[in-house]
Amino acid sequence: MAKDYAEHLHTSKSDATYTLGRTSHETNRLIEQSRIYGESTRRLCKRTGISNGMRVLEIGSGAGDVALMLAELVGPTGQIVGVDINAEILGTARQRAIDTGLHNLEFIAGDARSLTFSDKFDAVVGRFVLMYMADPGKAFSQLITHLKPGGIAAFQEPEYTLYPAFLHPDTPLMNQLITWILDVFKHSGAHLNAGIGLYQAFVDAGLPPPAMHLESPIGAEKTWAGYRYMATIFQSLLPLLEKYGLATVEQVEVDTLAERIRQEVLTSKRPFFLPLHVTAYSTLRI
Ligand SMILES: C[S@@+](CC[C@H](N)C(=O)[O-])C[C@H]1O[C@@H](n2cnc3c(N)ncnc32)[C@H](O)[C@@H]1O
Repeated sequence: MAKDYAEHLHTSKSDATYTLGRTSHETNRLIEQSRIYGESTRRLCKRTGISNGMRVLEIGSGAGDVALMLAELVGPTGQIVGVDINAEILGTARQRAIDTGLHNLEFIAGDARSLTFSDKFDAVVGRFVLMYMADPGKAFSQLITHLKPGGIAAFQEPEYTLYPAFLHPDTPLMNQLITWILDVFKHSGAHLNAGIGLYQAFVDAGLPPPAMHLESPIGAEKTWAGYRYMATIFQSLLPLLEKYGLATVEQVEVDTLAERIRQEVLTSKRPFFLPLHVTAYSTLRI
């Protein structure tokens, strides 16, 4: 793990290639991801004070997990507007809303940076989305223009620059997987430091310094869902790993990956860290 992945919050000429692809596998991966990271998203939203009757704009809805959780938090008198640049995935989000019987949410296809709304929102929320935008800080400033005075901004973004430092469990397969993840995200143009970069995004946009937490789901139990989840990440990453010449299908061997990770973690008796993420929130000055 000698490589240095440190970077400053930078801007790129264009948005990142969506590193994980746009397949039905990726839609299912997002749902599985939410089972692992969802608890910290819910905690973040509760801490901010998002509650009954609020109107919330949710950025980068994907398969709808954050919007569904918010719809419960704001209750039937509240309203959630979810936005995603990928119109197709919103079909899944809308169907899931219908299946859960929630009527207080709608999904709009489009680039969240350029949409306009006739009414302001009580909160703007986003999870794992700013990292794909060419200029996360500028995007954040645009997004919070939709807030009412006193409105809440709450974001959760991965922080990949710290990932190698934890070296957990510091075993050959895990170290190789982390290197591949970092390399593929870097090649795609995604911002590896979007998590810690949230601080700069908030203060540059004129918000009070955000309350922040750094978290990582970790585990070493025999039946932990993290092994399978890591393998699903690699199934989504494979096309770009190959395209950029970073790894071959044979090297990744995705079908056996979850079990190989599990064995390595159990033998090492050290918990395995899933990608770290940062949560940040603050409110617009009145
Ligand atoms: C990693 S997924 C996260 C989905 C969801 N927030 C979650 O945590 O389950 C990122 C999502 O952001 C969307 N996205 C990326 N750039 C966007 C933009 N400029 N405007 C709206 N959505 C965007 C992608 O299409 C993708 O569905």
